[in-house]
Amino acid sequence: MKVFLPLALTLATASSYSLQLTGRTGRFASTRLMSTPTYSIPDQPARFAKAKVENNSRFLDIDSCYDPSYLSGKRVALTGANRGIGLSLAKELSAQGAKIVALVRKSSPELDALNPEEVITGIEATSDSACATLADKIKGGPVDVLINNAGYFYEPVEMISDSSLNFSEELKMIDICALGPLRVTSNLFQAGLIKEGCRVAMITSQGGSVSWRTTQNPSGGDYGHHMSKSAANMMGVLVSQEFRSKNIPVTILHPGFNKTEMTKKYEKIWEIEGAVDAAVGAKRVLHEVGLINMERTGKFINCEDGLEIPW
Ligand SMILES: NC(=O)c1ccc[n+]([C@@H]2O[C@H](COP(=O)([O-])OP(=O)(O)OC[C@H]3O[C@@H](n4cnc5c(N)ncnc54)[C@H](OP(=O)(O)O)[C@@H]3O)[C@@H](O)[C@H]2O)c1
Ligand SMILES: *[C@@H]1O[C@H](CO)[C@@H](O)[C@H](O)[C@H]1NC(C)=O
Ligand SMILES: *[C@@H]1O[C@H](CO)[C@@H](O)[C@H](O)[C@H]1NC(C)=O
Ligand SMILES: *[C@@H]1O[C@H](CO)[C@@H](O)[C@H](O)[C@H]1NC(C)=O
Repeated sequence: MKVFLPLALTLATASSYSLQLTGRTGRFASTRLMSTPTYSIPDQPARFAKAKVENNSRFLDIDSCYDPSYLSGKRVALTGANRGIGLSLAKELSAQGAKIVALVRKSSPELDALNPEEVITGIEATSDSACATLADKIKGGPVDVLINNAGYFYEPVEMISDSSLNFSEELKMIDICALGPLRVTSNLFQAGLIKEGCRVAMITSQGGSVSWRTTQNPSGGDYGHHMSKSAANMMGVLVSQEFRSKNIPVTILHPGFNKTEMTKKYEKIWEIEGAVDAAVGAKRVLHEVGLINMERTGKFINCEDGLEIPW
C-alpha cells in the first residue's frame, strides 16, 4: 500500500507516520502508535538560539521545572560517580537525600566527601569479571534507580583523510560506552538488585544519533565515539524491550553539552552552543530520570530540552 503524506511533514515525522501505519496491522505494533514526537533539533547553536528566542524555561532555567522530591531516601546506583557529570550527579543526589551507590574504578576525595551509602570500587567497565563482582560487593539490596554514566571519548578527532583513525581506541570506546553499561545492568539484574519499578537510565550521547550526523558531522570524524554511542543506543533499546514485561523502564539520555574535561577540546564553542556547568547538567539529567516510566521506556531523550532525538 502506498501512503501519501503532506509535503510539509519533515522526513523524521514521515518515517514515524509510516511506522504508525505499518504498525497498525503488523506484528510490530508499537505502544507508541498515538504519539508523533516533536524532535529536538540537531544544529546545536540553532537549538540554543531558538531556546533563547522562545524564552524556553525548560532549556534556560531547569530550576523552573525540576522537582527532585522523588529522590529523597532512594538508593541510586551510579557509574562514573568519581568525576565529571557523574560527580555532579552524585553531588545533586546527595543534596536531595538520595542514598548513593557509587560504582567506580576508583573513588575520589570529592566523591568520598559526599559520604555515599556505598562506594563499590574496581568496577572496570571493560572487564566481565570486575563487573561480575557487583553481586557480592553491593550490600544494601536492590536499587531504585540505576544511572549508567561512565564513558570515554578519545581526544583526537578521528579522520580517514589525515590518518588519525585509531582502531584500538575505537574498540575501547565501544567496550566502555556500549558493552560497559550492559555488563553493569545485566549483573545487577541477575543479582536481584534491579527489580520491578526500578528506573534505568543509559547516558549515551546525541553523537549516537545516525540521522543527526549530516548536520553535526558534515565532514565525518569522531568515528569511534559516535559508533560507540550508536551501539549504546541500540543496547538501551534492547534492554528496554527485555525489561518491558518486568515493568522496569529504561530511558536513553543525552546529558546535554557539559563543560567537563571530556569536552574541553570544544571549549571555543561552549558559549555559542549553550554548554552548561555540570551542576546544571546534573539537574537536567535528574529531571529526565524523574520522568522515566513505562510510557517513555526505550526513548532517546535530550536532557537539554526534554525532547526526543531521532535514532
Ligand atoms: N560532557 C558532555 O558534554 C557529554 C556530552 C554527551 C555525552 N556525555 C556522556 O556523559 C557521560 C559522562 O561524561 P563526562 O563528561 O562526565 O566524562 P568524564 O569527565 O570524562 O568522566 C568519565 C567517567 O567515566 C569513567 N570511566 C571512563 N572509563 C572507564 C572504564 N573503563 N571503566 C569504568 N569507568 C570508566 C571515569 O572514571 P575514571 O576516573 O576511573 O576514569 C569517569 O568517572 C559519558 O558517558 C559521556 O559520554 C557527556
Ligand atoms: C522569560 O521567562 C521567565 C519565566 O520563565 C520570566 O521571568 C522572564 O521575564 C521571561 N523573559 C523574557 C525576556 O520574556
Ligand atoms: C592510539 O591511541 C593510543 C592511546 O592513546 C596510542 O598509544 C597509539 O599510539 C594510537 N595509535 C595511533 C595509530 O594513533
Ligand atoms: C565544568 O567543566 C569544567 C572543565 O572541566 C570545569 O572547570 C568546571 O569546574 C566544571 N563545572 C562544574 C560545575 O563541575
